[in-house]
Amino acid sequence: MIRFLLNQTLVSETGLDANLSVLDYLRRRQGRMGAKEGCASGDCGACTVVLVQAAGGKLRYDSINACITLIGALHGKQLLTVEDLSHQGQLHGVQQAMVDNHASQCGFCTPGIVMSLFALQKSAAGDTDDAITQALGGNLCRCTGYRPIMDAARQICRAVDDRFSDQENQTLAQLAQLQQQDDQPVSAPLSGPVDGAGVPARPVSLRPRTLAQLGATFLRHPDARLLAGGTDLALAITLRRETLPLLIDINHIPELKILSATEKQLEIGAAASLSACEPFLARHLPEFRAALTRFASRQVRNQATLGGNLANASPVGDGAPMLLALDARLVLRRGDDARELPLAQFFLSYRHTALAAGEFIERIIVPRVTASHKCQFYKVAKRREDDISAVFAAFCCEIEGGVIRSARLAYGGMAEIPRRATGAEGALLGQPWERKTVELACLRLADDFTPLSDLRAGGAYRLRVAQNLLRRFYLSASLPRHRLEVDHYV
Ligand code: FES
Ligand code: FES
Repeated sequence: MIRFLLNQTLVSETGLDANLSVLDYLRRRQGRMGAKEGCASGDCGACTVVLVQAAGGKLRYDSINACITLIGALHGKQLLTVEDLSHQGQLHGVQQAMVDNHASQCGFCTPGIVMSLFALQKSAAGDTDDAITQALGGNLCRCTGYRPIMDAARQICRAVDDRFSDQENQTLAQLAQLQQQDDQPVSAPLSGPVDGAGVPARPVSLRPRTLAQLGATFLRHPDARLLAGGTDLALAITLRRETLPLLIDINHIPELKILSATEKQLEIGAAASLSACEPFLARHLPEFRAALTRFASRQVRNQATLGGNLANASPVGDGAPMLLALDARLVLRRGDDARELPLAQFFLSYRHTALAAGEFIERIIVPRVTASHKCQFYKVAKRREDDISAVFAAFCCEIEGGVIRSARLAYGGMAEIPRRATGAEGALLGQPWERKTVELACLRLADDFTPLSDLRAGGAYRLRVAQNLLRRFYLSASLPRHRLEVDHYV
């Protein structure tokens, strides 16, 4: 059973197809047509709605893409759509700002933009261009242009009290009650008909609440798909029209959400959302946090997880090169048994990892970088927001007395898996940190990789970019920042 608040109305749903998207649920079952389907893949933002949940005794408002969010994600939360904003014939302040600034023409993209701005207002992230761009990076508008939308955003982005603020305590109490009433099965036997192989006839989602329950459930159903943010997994349903008969929802397991820091290392739970990681990484690893702002869109980051990004084993996933350069390790769990594996040994071949049947990523361990480390991460894509990398480069070198003591250079988009450039690393190791050494390493990159040509970039271009990013890394350590960085578009 799924229980959630649709605005202030308690909704209980049983027997829903676990592959149903929130967008289809809203439009087909609730008759709410405000959220639109543009791309069905999390790229346009026309379907943006807001999920509200308790965090630290307050309500947190997350914009999400309803098209790639499966229905089970609503459990224990409040769902707000554009229909919920106006009240007693009065537009919400966010809607009024869009009207005042002539920020809507086609109207198709507008409900999604309104919901992203509503989440921005509620987040109190501030009124900087950066905060606004981050909030709107996942919303496409091709006719009005962004200037009036940005004007509307500037008008509303300071937090204000509204009807939702007035109802905060009541909503918090209702959400707490929903969490306590969770009676979704965590394991077999599954109710309802099953086929000869014991797979349910209608897609089903199991919801373990502890690590031990997850371990046992996944051992019993090793063919099930683990569902964290689902921002990639859902594409199998929405774009490829596949059916995923058995899902295991790992979003209700506190151990998988940990974010902890010791003197030696950071530990990141596999199911912590990228947005949840942002403030943590801003404190402990600011270069990583800065790179995360180029990672998909705010809607996707509110759902997607670092564990999912790794388990997906995409050759162009942005998390893997950074974690490879940082020499991260994974804690993998199968049933009650856990093992540690260096990330460098995790990716075996295209979309194939070292995970055994029934095994999953529990957490990611990132050793601390020290003052002698130089680390930089670079993403090259066709646009700044919400795009897939053509090349992602992550560099982490330890330099003492002008000599390179350790070197880790990792790339995405250069091979069938994200991996390190071992030849180029060898050219750096033990050598003086100078331009000549870096040029030799650039030559070795051509031996390390033979990148493919595809719709995102040609192979020769990718190699040239990979070499130039290494040169840039060297220059960034030798020149003042303003000589290298273009911070604002003009
Ligand atoms: Fe385009 Fe959902 S329909 S992001
Ligand atoms: Fe809809 Fe711009 S107003 S695309």
